Amino acid sequence: MELLDGDLMRDELTAEEIDKLVEAARQAGKHAYAPYSDFFVGAAVLTGNDRIYSGCNVENVSYGLTVCAERTALVKAVSEGDRDIRAIAIYADMEQYCSPCGACRQVISEFGSHITVIQANGHGKYIINTIEKLLPGGFNAGMLRKGTS
Ligand code: THU
Repeated sequence: MELLDGDLMRDELTAEEIDKLVEAARQAGKHAYAPYSDFFVGAAVLTGNDRIYSGCNVENVSYGLTVCAERTALVKAVSEGDRDIRAIAIYADMEQYCSPCGACRQVISEFGSHITVIQANGHGKYIINTIEKLLPGGFNAGMLRKGTS
């Protein structure tokens, strides 16, 4: 894999960890259920105890019920009791780097502002950022109960 762009923090994950995580995302993308968009996405989450949870997008005929690959992978980790999210890789077999949607950015940031986000394309290249960079000014827990009441 070749790092192309982005901010960061490249020392946070080793090259081996990145390769392994991207490969897990790539494999998960093969399970995508995407009969409506035909757009296959895979994601993989790395947790503090070195476990990897992968996921794919799961579409629905009622389009708004579609779940993105990123959220599938994150929910798998959290529901297994693994909330210490270090990184998430997103893979789609295309030239561009699949960009996590706004909803997924918010869900990723729920588990930490310094989570590493790796966007890998189908040609062995990737860009790497923190979720903080991808979702500046996002809503956060510190804002709750600060309104006038
Ligand atoms: N999708 C993801 O799973 N992750 C992304 O980062 C972008 C979009 C999915 C949702 C839907 O199934 C399809 O790609 C087209 O939007």
